[in-house]
Amino acid sequence: MYAQGWIGMPVEQIPTPALVVDVEKLDRNLATMADYLARVKTNIRPHAKTHKTPAIGHKQMRAGAIGLCCATVGEAEVMVYSGIPEVMIANEIVDPLSVRRAVNLARQARVLMIVDDPENVRNIGAAARQYGAMVDVLVDLDVGQGRCGARSLEALVELAREVERTKGIRLRGVFGYEGHVQFIPDRQERTAKGQDANGRLVRAAKELSGLGMNIEIVSGAGTGTYDIAGEFPGITEIQAGSYIFMDGTYQKLGLPFEQSLTVLATVVSRPAADIAVFDVGLKGISPERFNPSVQNCGTGAIEVKSLSEEHSVTRLSDAADPRPGDKMHFIPSHCCTTVNLYDSMFVVRQGRVEAIWPVAARRA
Ligand SMILES: Cc1ncc(COP(=O)(O)O)c(C=O)c1O
Repeated sequence: MYAQGWIGMPVEQIPTPALVVDVEKLDRNLATMADYLARVKTNIRPHAKTHKTPAIGHKQMRAGAIGLCCATVGEAEVMVYSGIPEVMIANEIVDPLSVRRAVNLARQARVLMIVDDPENVRNIGAAARQYGAMVDVLVDLDVGQGRCGARSLEALVELAREVERTKGIRLRGVFGYEGHVQFIPDRQERTAKGQDANGRLVRAAKELSGLGMNIEIVSGAGTGTYDIAGEFPGITEIQAGSYIFMDGTYQKLGLPFEQSLTVLATVVSRPAADIAVFDVGLKGISPERFNPSVQNCGTGAIEVKSLSEEHSVTRLSDAADPRPGDKMHFIPSHCCTTVNLYDSMFVVRQGRVEAIWPVAARRA
């Protein structure tokens, strides 16, 4: 059936495996985040890598976001072409073609880029001048994650000086993502390590301001640290992404967001009393951190034991007795790498399909 033909149908009737978002839970997650941030007076520029879906990006803007973060130039293009007015490409962009694309995008919308290398700064500046664009730049500080970012305050100051010297680009602030803190299960430890990372970033921002540089934006944080950074004096905006969907990893942290994203799957075999095989495998759900869990299995428990390309083999407790053809919702351990497997998501309200949203930036 042509995909839009599923609109209005009960979710149990859609072909599986299918990516499903419960739009009421999604909307509540947006409202919960917006209410919290309004109280603490910190901005959000949510990370669109989580959904890669313009329809959700626009919902985030309507819920008060000041723009979106994107992981790639392609993602940023899709969001801008859909009408998002401001994007931050929250990764270093260095290859000449991608720099050219980012700079040209800055002629269509406000584009912020992050940098950790002086030569890259000069290349972005040269491209910006060549195409007559103005690109806003944040200098990236490693706040403990050990990925990209300047490794010392001295290196960051040098970098910021290079940005200031370079025509065509404009220094707007500092960027420091505390990725190493997001999933720490113990709240006290997560808070201490989050505050340590935020402290490093804010101190760097003050140092640059003290040197007379323009630091309006101090940006960090994901879903696991949204309220730690949200309340940290000097952090101006957060980059959380997964809070809209949640997943098995974030579910363990006791955050106030609901699990809005699932993968619907069908039982295709009951080869033994304690085994059910479902039609979702590695091509339909990401087991990046651990195996998915199964929701709505009635009184019994269903545990995913292994995944192959198209199948999940599950072990059933005595009380669980799903029949071939039964459908159940799986929760992935990581929402972002699961969404990326699908071209579209079924948007469900009260058990019925209300819309089908293209994951338009999937391959971008
Ligand atoms: C730069 C950056 N900011 C923010 C995030 C936050 O993402 P989430 O809220 O999905 O954990 C990520 C996740 O990988 C990231 O790489």
